[in-house]
Amino acid sequence: MAVYDPPAQDSGTFAHIQWGTTMAPIYGKITGWGAYAPGHIVTNHDLERTLDTSDEWIVQRTGIRERRIAGAQETTSTMAVKAGSSALAKANLPATDLDLILVATSSPDHFTPPVSSQVQAALGASNVPALTIVTGCTGFVYALVVAYQFIATGAYSNILVVGVELLSRFLNWQDRSMCVLFGDAAGAVVVQATDQPCGLKGFVLGSDGSQSQHIIMPAGGSARPFSADVLAEGSHYLQMNGREVFKFATRVVGPASGQALQHAGMGIEDVDWIIPHQANLRIIQAAAREMGLPLDRFVVNIDRYANTSAASIPLALAENLDYRRIKPADTLLLVSFGAGMTWAAAVVQMQPGAE
Ligand code: UT7
Repeated sequence: MAVYDPPAQDSGTFAHIQWGTTMAPIYGKITGWGAYAPGHIVTNHDLERTLDTSDEWIVQRTGIRERRIAGAQETTSTMAVKAGSSALAKANLPATDLDLILVATSSPDHFTPPVSSQVQAALGASNVPALTIVTGCTGFVYALVVAYQFIATGAYSNILVVGVELLSRFLNWQDRSMCVLFGDAAGAVVVQATDQPCGLKGFVLGSDGSQSQHIIMPAGGSARPFSADVLAEGSHYLQMNGREVFKFATRVVGPASGQALQHAGMGIEDVDWIIPHQANLRIIQAAAREMGLPLDRFVVNIDRYANTSAASIPLALAENLDYRRIKPADTLLLVSFGAGMTWAAAVVQMQPGAE
């Protein structure tokens, strides 16, 4: 485990504020990636047997054909550990050498303890700081941006970033408007400090809490603690105003992408792949139209996994790196939106010079 020793401070100044100006820039390279999706596949046709729904409706409205559902023995932390272990193995980095673990999720094993600490213990990363980031579907992009800040300041050199979601345990399986939309999965990357210019080139993060009612678990928190009434109403389940979220998503994806590119000093032509949050194929198609790009510049896997929230982008990234569709030298635009309401876009140049 690398322990961070802050440099000696001049009186009256904060050492970390000086780092950016006095040190050579430190970049962050994605050296490892991994994904995990449970083996149990539930198709739209399977759902037709228990719900008043159809494969045709689901495919036309969302692009989803099937989703993965976690087994009874699986939890959010066990899925995160599988994806995280693969990413560490690919990076050839022992968990004990990590400086920080970030886990993005809205479906933790428990409210307390933080799931990030459970992941840290299960990975055997003794005493490594661990932080859970809860920004809904944007969680992985938020976490990745946070990781790059720690790298850029020189505070940490080896960071594991996981996006994981087990939303099937928070859905009402009698509510056809919700349960057909989501799936369970995890994805992870290892970001390591390097002096090679690469990594996070530009980003934008945003939040508009005034619209937070559009994606909500109304009960089970401090505003409305769990009770027999809550159970009878089912207000502990995830609820969403799909039409409002759809409008919000189509409003933010284009501008957030444009702002992140502008921040990076790049144009869309400099980007090899756009990896959007996989919530609805129609939202991705609308983004492609708005950006004037063919759909084949976008990574799409919603047909096989449905909406896996904070896991959707790292799952798509890891899977396409494994298939070598995305090359380790590529430049990526990651763009997401979700509960909060939040949005996040990041331009990431992976490993220049890599094959
Ligand atoms: O990751 C978090 C972000 N989430 C999102 O981005 C989701 C964004 N929203 C959406 O993707 C879409 O709004 C949905 C896919 C959720 C819904 O599509 P929609 O075209 O907005 O449908 P709708 O909610 O307006 O419902 C249209 C009809 C309704 O029937 P009536 O009232 O017109 O008779 C629904 O009851 O479709 C009905 N419906 C269904 N029918 C068959 C709703 N769910 C289903 C279903 N099967 N599963």
